[in-house]
Amino acid sequence: QSHLLGIKYLQPSDLQLIFETADEFYEVINRPIKKVPSLRDKTIANIFFENSTRTKLSFELAEKRLSADVINFSASGSSVAKGETLVDTVNNILAMKVDMVVMRHPNPGAAHFLASQVKATIINAGDGAHEHPTQALLDAYSIRQKFGKDLKGLRVAIIGDILHSRVALSNIFCLRLLGAEVQLCGPATLMPRHIESLGVTVSYDLMQTLQWCDVANFLRVQHERMDVKYFPSVREYVMQYGLNSQLLETLNKPITIMHPGPINRGVELTSEVADGAQSIILQQVENGVAIRMAVLYLLAGNR
Ligand code: CP
Repeated sequence: QSHLLGIKYLQPSDLQLIFETADEFYEVINRPIKKVPSLRDKTIANIFFENSTRTKLSFELAEKRLSADVINFSASGSSVAKGETLVDTVNNILAMKVDMVVMRHPNPGAAHFLASQVKATIINAGDGAHEHPTQALLDAYSIRQKFGKDLKGLRVAIIGDILHSRVALSNIFCLRLLGAEVQLCGPATLMPRHIESLGVTVSYDLMQTLQWCDVANFLRVQHERMDVKYFPSVREYVMQYGLNSQLLETLNKPITIMHPGPINRGVELTSEVADGAQSIILQQVENGVAIRMAVLYLLAGNR
């Protein structure tokens, strides 16, 4: 059984295959008829134990564009509230002849656990603060669209709450596989220990990082995963790590601004920056559909 559990388990050739396949689907979804019959014999369950807007909707749209049958499951309102286990829940869904499961779960490792327990293809749509592989793929695809196919030597900064971010870890694995240089920047209290062992540099100085990078990917401050002792106050965070247009203008070069969403407007980025000419935030969302179509198509056994 093939799964997508994390970028950690992929090779550069896997990434190239996903990007090339996504290029084809990008063409498809920009045509007047946006649908292909590739997965018309497949049934896919999207099971979400945690909130989502972009990931959930773009997986559903990707599945529908590929002509799969789709069912959606949210833990709230389900029999999980009566104490049904994850494995029982998924095995009951699979009994209805479901082929693939897309799962978001608050616990790191939940997708690995599920893949070891059930007979279906599992796609990790985010597991706690561990990995969010399709986000990293769509981020790298968006950078590739802007800077060309070879990311070797490109300088990408990941800025903000690294400690609680599954996007950061998947992006580090993905960008390093593609040969990009990665610098992490954020408060020391939100920086994992020994993270340099993943081949990245660490800075606590936003201005220094912005002057270094070609691309700056700003992460959401995850208030919901945060113990108060970790966090500088929001005011302190904004003063030290928030990006506004004045700061952007003081740089002597244009940099590309990214954010996986949802944005805390006025915290990580001001609206002027998030919606400005250097931002590719909505292109990231657009590319999410093509990337997820490629992942679903390839995991269904197609080349
Ligand atoms: N980027 C991302 O995962 O957004 P959602 O939580 O809305 O899916």
